[in-house]
Amino acid sequence: MNGSGISIGVFDSGVGGLTVHHAIRVALPDSASFYCSDNEFHPYGTKADQVIANRTLDVCARFVDRCAIDILVIACNTASTVALGLLRAHLQVPVVGVVPAIKPAAAGSTSRVIGLLATPATVKRQYVDELIHQFAGDCTVVRVGSSRLVELAEEKGRGKAVNPAEVLREIEPLFAAGTQLPAGARLDAVVLGCTHFPLLLDELKAVAPWPVRWIDSGSAVAARVKALAQESSTLSRIRNEQERTASVPAAGTAFVTRLDPGAKALEPLLARFGFATLAHL
Ligand code: DGL
Repeated sequence: MNGSGISIGVFDSGVGGLTVHHAIRVALPDSASFYCSDNEFHPYGTKADQVIANRTLDVCARFVDRCAIDILVIACNTASTVALGLLRAHLQVPVVGVVPAIKPAAAGSTSRVIGLLATPATVKRQYVDELIHQFAGDCTVVRVGSSRLVELAEEKGRGKAVNPAEVLREIEPLFAAGTQLPAGARLDAVVLGCTHFPLLLDELKAVAPWPVRWIDSGSAVAARVKALAQESSTLSRIRNEQERTASVPAAGTAFVTRLDPGAKALEPLLARFGFATLAHL
């Protein structure tokens, strides 16, 4: 079983989930992909937990139904950390979430100082405290929440040039904290705990005061989706025969919750990631 024919739905508040989708495509090139951006409610990272959880369920339930999704990927750290339980309780399909890559960052750190760059909502989650406790108990973890970087990634996705000075301003606290540590113990890895941030990887590397490892969760999510796809490919083929009718959109369709000029401006980026059609959910 290679998971081919499986219908995979990738959800995010915006364009960040495309970075996760890319890793999934590499792992499962024959799957049928759908994307959903909740651009009407974007950004998630500044909103209250319960509001995010309810909204994620509402949009994802419609997305799963509309596209006969077999596996749903919540390619948004902010939503994953609060909504996974609710989604799994209400949806009939497997739901895979994104977890900030604290474990690999800590495992590979020589200095035992790592950074977590995520949305303001994610950095303060108890879930993150638990991950740090479990996998990075002997590390100093410098947490920085930034909503501006989310916007810069969205703007870049619409073709706007990114101002390096703005990127530096957002990440400086990570490196400033590192310099206050004992000699030799400077930050050597940064967890990209928001799926938007890999879209800014070139800019982040260019302005970082010194080289560090930038670690995202794309390949870990892709490995989990691949394992699930292989387990459920028989189920999928039955579903596909029964449900993949003319009313299901063509694979490669990206949905938005608000089809406005801002969403239309993302069409070239979506096409580069394999989504040739844009539609309203
Ligand atoms: N891409 C989302 C994440 O991974 C957050 C962006 C937002 O604030 O909406 O957390």
